[in-house]
Amino acid sequence: MGEQTVAASAAPDSSTPKAGACAMVIFGGGGDLTKRLVTPALYNLATTGLLPDDFAIIGVDHSDGSDDGWRDSLDEMMRSFVGGTGEFDPSQIDAKAWDWLKSRMFYLKGDFEDPKTFESVKGKLAEVENSHHTGGNVLFYLAVADRFFGTVVDGLGAAKLTETDGDEAWRRVVIEKPFGHDLASAKALNARVLKVLREDQVYRIDHFLGKETVQNIMTFRFANGLFEPLWNRDHIDHVQITVAETVGVEGRGGFYEATGALRDMMPNHVFQLVAMTAMEPPVSFDADDVRSRKVDVFKSMKTVKPEQAVRGQYDAGTVLGKSTKAYRAEPHVDLHSKTETYVALKLDIDNWRWAGVPFYLRTGKYMSTRTSEVAIRFKPAPMALFAETKTSDIQANWLAIQIQPDEGISLQFEVKRPGPVVDLKSVKMNFAYKDWFPAQQNVGYETLLYDVMTGDQTLFQRADQVEEAWRVVDEVLDHWGKSAPRDFPNYVGGTAGPVAADLMLARDGDRAWRPVKLDPGPEQPEGGAK
Ligand code: BG6
Repeated sequence: MGEQTVAASAAPDSSTPKAGACAMVIFGGGGDLTKRLVTPALYNLATTGLLPDDFAIIGVDHSDGSDDGWRDSLDEMMRSFVGGTGEFDPSQIDAKAWDWLKSRMFYLKGDFEDPKTFESVKGKLAEVENSHHTGGNVLFYLAVADRFFGTVVDGLGAAKLTETDGDEAWRRVVIEKPFGHDLASAKALNARVLKVLREDQVYRIDHFLGKETVQNIMTFRFANGLFEPLWNRDHIDHVQITVAETVGVEGRGGFYEATGALRDMMPNHVFQLVAMTAMEPPVSFDADDVRSRKVDVFKSMKTVKPEQAVRGQYDAGTVLGKSTKAYRAEPHVDLHSKTETYVALKLDIDNWRWAGVPFYLRTGKYMSTRTSEVAIRFKPAPMALFAETKTSDIQANWLAIQIQPDEGISLQFEVKRPGPVVDLKSVKMNFAYKDWFPAQQNVGYETLLYDVMTGDQTLFQRADQVEEAWRVVDEVLDHWGKSAPRDFPNYVGGTAGPVAADLMLARDGDRAWRPVKLDPGPEQPEGGAK
């Protein structure tokens, strides 16, 4: 993952039950994902008492290693990870919880393409079942490069690791992103995986769904009577979703060259935000009720046409006060690379609620500020009444849901500026998570891991959803693959992205992107007021 992902979130209340006995097998135990996200998340679950008492972890990777060696490398990472965030210092690591976790971590050397590896996993699982009473329940986590997803699933199937002997025990498989790189490959991967596993055993991760603020979109919409009646084409002019990053490709040039911003972020993370914003209320929180309503949104998305898409690539610049290289000067990147590091799309959702309300989506590396938000622009009020007022530029309302880093919700509206004449000013009401809930160390994978252990698929992507998402972007991917961009690099590092993206909104009438900054919206209070 690119940026530092530590966020505040509420501590689970004491009524949240512990997950039941299980073993976890991490393929790619020595990899970056295990180190930076999976292990810290397991540690956080241990400190909040949500991991099962009967628990064991087996890390599988191709290099030589031992239980102690693996534990030590994770220990080193935890200390630098926690210290590196600047949010709390390493001395705050809960030694009891961390030692408890480490004592049940076991390392296994194995090549993912070798059937013997899966036999060894089977042997080790039998051992921990005995020593740690894991009850035959197993969570397989594929923290491996995507080219191994099919291979590992086949290996599990061939070794009969995905089945239990007719007892109650479960076997579940977590698959990371990217799930395919276009529609055809996603379909092929689904078909391969579903030859071995039932859909209810497959947990396709999109870590954006682990973010509290993303999950909260549904609560905010459906637990409040205030906004839902306005949440449709009669009252909403358009929606803007921004996921702006201040990191570049961070040594991932090789991966990024083959991926690009569109594949990396749109059909997965950004579309999840769209689905949460646009879905109909589900009849219950049952996983398939929620996922079916989300799939309805994906099915209603029109295929994006090349003229509804803008691509960008960063040039040298200054990000957060530091000079940054051009993308083409990054390691493992072609000097003439055509890969996009920024993408903006205009998405149409052709259903009863949203027809005629464009969703403008954008994401990019090396932008001016790290911020992710969903912003709803309401239709303007009839202005005749204010035609003669001093302020000519009367703003329509914005409702902004800040996903990260300053989690919260704000509503912008117009008020009368105090004084003898009628004059208007845009002001803002703010809710900030940090003002209402205690902050807790959270890397975004805690809820997701807990959900796999407790068998809740609500926050995971179903096969049909993944395929629909690729269908929506497939034409643009195809077009971009065939026609080289003429203006790359076309935005300076540390800015809001290419001018072409501004023009895309300007062409649609009086629309403009919100500024890429924390807390965009009206200027601050006047006259030194606080
Ligand atoms: C990953 C992408 O899936 O998400 C990265 O591959 C990106 O390129 C990251 O930086 C963003 O996630 P977060 O949680 O840091 O916003």
